[in-house]
Amino acid sequence: MKDVQRIAIVDPSDATREPLRNLLLSVESVWLEAECSRYEFFIDVAKQATPDLVVVALDADHGKALQLIQQITQEIPGLPILAVSARGDGQSILQALRAGAKEFLTAPVVLDELLTAMQRLRAGRVSADGTPVANGQASHQSLVVSVIGSRGGVGCTSLAVNIGCNLAQDPNNNVALIDLDLALGDADVALDLIPDYTLADVAMNIDRLDMTFLRRSLCKHACGLSVLPHPVQMEDVSLIQEEHLGRVINLLRASYSTLIFDLSKRFTATDLTAMRMSDVVLLVCQLELTSLRNVVRMVHTFGQDETLAQKIRIIVNRVGADDGEITLQKAEETIGQPVFWQVPNDFKALTGSRNAGEPLLMHAPKCKTQLSLVGLAQALSGKEAQAPKKERRGFFSFR
Ligand SMILES: Nc1ncnc2c1ncn2[C@@H]1O[C@H](COP(=O)(O)OP(=O)(O)OP(=O)(O)O)[C@@H](O)[C@H]1O
Ligand SMILES: [Mg+2]
Repeated sequence: MKDVQRIAIVDPSDATREPLRNLLLSVESVWLEAECSRYEFFIDVAKQATPDLVVVALDADHGKALQLIQQITQEIPGLPILAVSARGDGQSILQALRAGAKEFLTAPVVLDELLTAMQRLRAGRVSADGTPVANGQASHQSLVVSVIGSRGGVGCTSLAVNIGCNLAQDPNNNVALIDLDLALGDADVALDLIPDYTLADVAMNIDRLDMTFLRRSLCKHACGLSVLPHPVQMEDVSLIQEEHLGRVINLLRASYSTLIFDLSKRFTATDLTAMRMSDVVLLVCQLELTSLRNVVRMVHTFGQDETLAQKIRIIVNRVGADDGEITLQKAEETIGQPVFWQVPNDFKALTGSRNAGEPLLMHAPKCKTQLSLVGLAQALSGKEAQAPKKERRGFFSFR
């Protein structure tokens, strides 16, 4: 669950305080605890409000602002200070940091820089005695999962959508599915959603993107899952650049506890960006030759990037489809890596759910594929998987 950061700001100038205040208010995880227009009163405000972070705007009076930063550092040790100034020269930054500020942002402040600074401050927060503050230990508590397939039709969208819906059942989770199969994705179809906005709208507005616009761009399904679909027009795919995606992901992480990416099978720059920014990459395959051969190739390629290699979890889909002779053991030997999860085959439930545009939890909540995907969602969110007794041996090989 995303935790709230309580912030107090001081800026004597209305002209700069207003936009900063509005920017902070657009961040869902921010609670604006106090706002002050006088440097000399702020120390008392901060002592009373006990915020998690203070923002000191320097430009109204640099001398007074730096003095205030020193005073806060001495009188409220451990309280992180974020200094803001339009003068982003080395000298100004150095002065603010020497006075005791932990971060410096150049005004006008840009949302993703603010979020990154806030995350860094939260991660590094220490108490007066130098020990880490409990809610500051993790820079964020979001979970980012990429789902990528070892060939077309292997089940990525089915898994991404249903894992997303299952995770969204926990009221503590706020889950968004981003369809990064930019040309041919169908996550919206799988959930029978007619979106008002897509990733193309987000990309076109990237320079003035704020949290409110971004949240409005996602389409919410009745089960609680929010979806950001791929562009409707194929020619709009080129609008989405990898640096756009990086920015969108950072913003979404501040608003959602879990992000799931349904990737294309073309290894585009956006696919790679998404995988690099993920905590876990689910590599979906089936027990047949083409799919397994590609898994071996993909594991080899990803292996060249150590951080990426560690995130890979092999998921075998459609187990029990009986269309081949490759055993799970043989597959593991070939891949050289254990299978993280096995998802049973259930043609009727999956086809019915896709045709109805309903997730399995609505269409076939008791089918074996859904039960397995509930377990997988729990395993991903760090909870113990609840494997149904009958299937424990056959389908749940969580290692
Ligand atoms: N566990 C399963 N049991 C039975 N059928 C399944 C299972 N998983 C997926 N399918 C079926 O396989 C087909 C392809 O699934 P899906 O669209 O999820 O794959 P994909 O990897 O996203 O495909 P694409 O390459 O087109 O993006 C669908 O008809 C789906 O219903
Ligand atoms: Mg797909």
